Amino acid sequence: MKRSHLQKFPDDNGYFGKFGGAYIPDLLQKEFEKIAKTYEKLRYSHEFLSELKRIRKHYQGRPTPVYHAKRLSDALDGAQIYLKREDLNHMGAHKLNHCIAEALLAKNLGKKKLIAETGAGQHGVALATAAAFLGLECEIHMGEVDIKKEHPNVVRMKILGAEVVPATHGLKTLKEAVDSAFESYVKQLDTALYAIGSVVGPHPFPMMVRDFQSVVGFEAKEQFLEMVGFLPDSVVACVGGGSNAMGIFSGFIDDEVDLWAVEPLGKGAKLGEHAATLSYGEEGVIHGFNSYLLKDETGEPAPVHSIASGLDYPGVGPEHAYLKDIGRLQTAAITDDETIDAFYALSQYEGIIPALESAHAVAYAMKLAKEMKKGTILVNLSGRGDKDIDYVVETFGIKNITL
Ligand SMILES: Cc1ncc(COP(=O)(O)O)c(C=O)c1O
Repeated sequence: MKRSHLQKFPDDNGYFGKFGGAYIPDLLQKEFEKIAKTYEKLRYSHEFLSELKRIRKHYQGRPTPVYHAKRLSDALDGAQIYLKREDLNHMGAHKLNHCIAEALLAKNLGKKKLIAETGAGQHGVALATAAAFLGLECEIHMGEVDIKKEHPNVVRMKILGAEVVPATHGLKTLKEAVDSAFESYVKQLDTALYAIGSVVGPHPFPMMVRDFQSVVGFEAKEQFLEMVGFLPDSVVACVGGGSNAMGIFSGFIDDEVDLWAVEPLGKGAKLGEHAATLSYGEEGVIHGFNSYLLKDETGEPAPVHSIASGLDYPGVGPEHAYLKDIGRLQTAAITDDETIDAFYALSQYEGIIPALESAHAVAYAMKLAKEMKKGTILVNLSGRGDKDIDYVVETFGIKNITL
């Protein structure tokens, strides 16, 4: 019998082709083996899967709808754009899909505390939510720059009872937050789980987070078929680490559907001005896994920039790297300015204010719709933009968009 992509990958050692693995110090080896073993049991446990299903339905608000963005599509006069509304998840982003599951895993492992990094603050808020829901402590590491930029999410994390630890070295953004969280985690291995916020990090996290996010793609496929009668021509998602993208791609990966990974081109293609890792990176190890990486002249992770704090990372999930190499995934890159235009376009044509991360996917879908002229595009609208409104208006002012 033919096995699906999700059944085939990763292999037993956590590899997607040559990407992935677990490049970790001896000190962490046993702990990650324990996590992998426990997850292997849970992923086939009826009790675990039913509990997750129950929480998703009654607490999180799943299934989230698929919505036809008709006014926007009509204005573009091209392919029809549909949105998978992950912004309607409790707390406003797809991140809760994996956070609830990671918190359940922590309980199974007998842990008392969740530790994680956050960029835009959405993973931090979602994890603090999951911790409150399941009675766990929560410690979130966040770059000082992002703490200022994403202030509303910092307040939300604190209200939810989490401790927010500033990362004060380097560029003080997402990469530094991961460094800081790992450093704290190794001192608390007995009592804490590092609940990684995307399909990155050492095995088994890229697989686990993908599996927890795959609900997005499975739901979307069924909903789209019911609404439209056939599959979308293209599925589009923004990629930071890649969790929302792997989530929606999971539903379509074995089908004849184009998959588009949209990366942040920031201010332009010069190293340091973007975070488009799949487009411009080369093979390298970061934070315990092998993937594409933006490197500086010494081979270290390069400084990166994006208007969207959640996309501001020099690495990318290993499954994305593999899918790009085998030609299953296409990449696109969207600038900060194009993102702001899409942010306002979706707000003014559909009454939906998207997260800046998600606005990258919307911006590319708008371009693609015009290019395709007809057909259908499904976009993963990974989160809502409440966290970004003050920053956008203070930095760019109010823009009125006419398409
Ligand atoms: C709304 C939203 N979308 C996308 C991302 C990017 O993460 P990922 O690529 O793992 O989906 C983030 C990260 O914070 C986010 O908050």
